Amino acid sequence: MNPRIAPSILSADFGRLAEEIQAVTQAGADLIHVDVMDGRFVPNITIGPVVVKAARKATDLPLDVHLMIVEPDRYLEDFRKAGADIIGVQVEVCPHLHRTVQAIKALGAKASVVLNPATSLSTLDTVLDDVDQVLIMSVNPGFGGQQFIPSAMTKIAGVRKMLDDRGLDHVALEVDGGVKVDNIGDIAAAGADTFVAGSAIFGEPDYSVVIAKMREQIARNSLPKIGTGQ
Ligand code: DX5
Ligand code: ZN
Repeated sequence: MNPRIAPSILSADFGRLAEEIQAVTQAGADLIHVDVMDGRFVPNITIGPVVVKAARKATDLPLDVHLMIVEPDRYLEDFRKAGADIIGVQVEVCPHLHRTVQAIKALGAKASVVLNPATSLSTLDTVLDDVDQVLIMSVNPGFGGQQFIPSAMTKIAGVRKMLDDRGLDHVALEVDGGVKVDNIGDIAAAGADTFVAGSAIFGEPDYSVVIAKMREQIARNSLPKIGTGQ
């Protein structure tokens, strides 16, 4: 899968949200990542379907909606109707994960399953063949601007191996949290193809410059290493 950059609007200026979404769209983003938080699954409270609907009007890019909420099944239809193209649920709050994945797909959205840093890859075993995306959290969710947790790198490589072993090359492998220009190359080399970045993009004055730098780092790390015989 071609590498995709997904700016997280959590770090955008919400007073100018439509403009911010248009700016990252023009700057070369591939997806818009929308962080929905309920103050229960995570400590923070952010946005709901009303804001997703506003985001939908601001761009033609797919909306990658990351639900950090308990009982996500209650709201899948609302987010789909608001314009979500990809709906991600945290496996930690889905006792009937298979049913939830099927419900997302029945709504015509792509199903993404999200794993917190301490959640084992074994939770993927039985659903991997049914999903469109796996999202590995590289911070404990709740806030933008946190540091990338190094153990996420091993998990990314682990998911890449599971996908390769099963020939699931249509399934996206996304990483979220602490992704920056200086680590995105290593994250790509570990096997990720979809990169969420909030503060690293919205914290810079020129979004197109930082997105171009990220693409350059990804491309550099995807090349075979010279002199190693690989
Ligand atoms: C974390 C969110 C992330 C976050 C990423 O709870 O799911 O999407 O906003 O932000 P940065 O890139 O600043 O770590
Ligand atoms: Zn997110």
